Amino acid sequence: RCFTHTFCPPRYAQASQYSGQYNKTSLQPPSKPVLLLWFWPENYRFDLRDCKTLLDIDGCFLTDDRSLYSTADAVLIFHKAIKWDLSNLPPSPRPSKQRWIWFHVESPTNTHRIPGLENLFNLTLGYRQDADIIVRYHLTIRQTPEEEFVMPKKDKLVCWIVSNNNPSTGTGVRSKFYMELKKYIDVHVFGKAFGTFLNYEDYYPTIASCKFYLSFENSIHRDYITEKLNGPLVAGTVPVVLGPPRQNYENFIPSSSFIHVNDFPSAKDLAQYLLQLDKDENLYRSYFQWRKYFAAKRHLILQTQEFIKPICTACDYIGKHSEYKVKNDIYKWYFSE
Ligand SMILES: *[C@@H]1O[C@H](CO)[C@@H](O)[C@H](O)[C@H]1NC(C)=O
Ligand SMILES: *[C@@H]1O[C@H](CO)[C@@H](O)[C@H](O)[C@H]1NC(C)=O
Repeated sequence: RCFTHTFCPPRYAQASQYSGQYNKTSLQPPSKPVLLLWFWPENYRFDLRDCKTLLDIDGCFLTDDRSLYSTADAVLIFHKAIKWDLSNLPPSPRPSKQRWIWFHVESPTNTHRIPGLENLFNLTLGYRQDADIIVRYHLTIRQTPEEEFVMPKKDKLVCWIVSNNNPSTGTGVRSKFYMELKKYIDVHVFGKAFGTFLNYEDYYPTIASCKFYLSFENSIHRDYITEKLNGPLVAGTVPVVLGPPRQNYENFIPSSSFIHVNDFPSAKDLAQYLLQLDKDENLYRSYFQWRKYFAAKRHLILQTQEFIKPICTACDYIGKHSEYKVKNDIYKWYFSE
């Protein structure tokens, strides 16, 4: 069913059982700004009410119903789903009040430069601090200081969960570092890349059982600091990070909450320091002092939940912002660091 008489776009999608918020028979237009999810990223569908139930976000009317296109205040467009000939973009004419959001959560290394998209968007959504809508796992300030941190039981020294070892995605740097590191210290590896699958419910407990966790990003870019860091911060484990420079991490987490591989001249020196920390309980504990004042929040770990946070964050933004904005040349912005 089409809600305005001027323009009814073709129906692309099946009316989805997931668009559950909207009662079509009542024909009441939604009272909140409408955010239309144009593609389901990687086809990982979820109940759109999860924004409210899981993240307490309820500021927009979120829908995947393309028949609402002409009335949508904003359209969320997942970059990776766009065809090279742009044939699956929303149709013309584009409603003049409507904002299009470039939805992209990969690093530049893993970004296809699809031509013709440069000047279509009003807003950007991603991990970068200079995106309009930023998706990131933040530490939050505790209302009252934590009484005492109970260290989880540790029966492993260094752990690493890694599912992607495809060198074309930029993983060469971290693989090389790992190969060097494991010469000097035992590393327990888990995940698809090593043929040892970990059940989702074992994710946090496994990380918690290790003194150190390798938070190695697949490619190295400013602000590209992902859930790989959040996992150990939540679990009560010291992250050993490989990614952008230390100063960039310190924009987001206290300097004494993590170990950066660049703090050491070589993997061997890093290994020696980790072994030293293993014997020095006080020094090891000092890496958890931040927890007294700040808290890390669990992220959703099912693969099918990967896009819930970005989509709901967009909803939150659209519920609060209605400024006119244009993003000129997204690639010039995205690829210049
Ligand atoms: C939708 O609205 C109609 C008319 O107001 C009402 O009769 C119906 O029960 C509602 N359906 C749901 C699922 O809320
Ligand atoms: C959105 O961006 C397009 C393309 O740059 C522009 O033509 C349009 O005026 C912008 N609209 C709003 C509401 O920001």
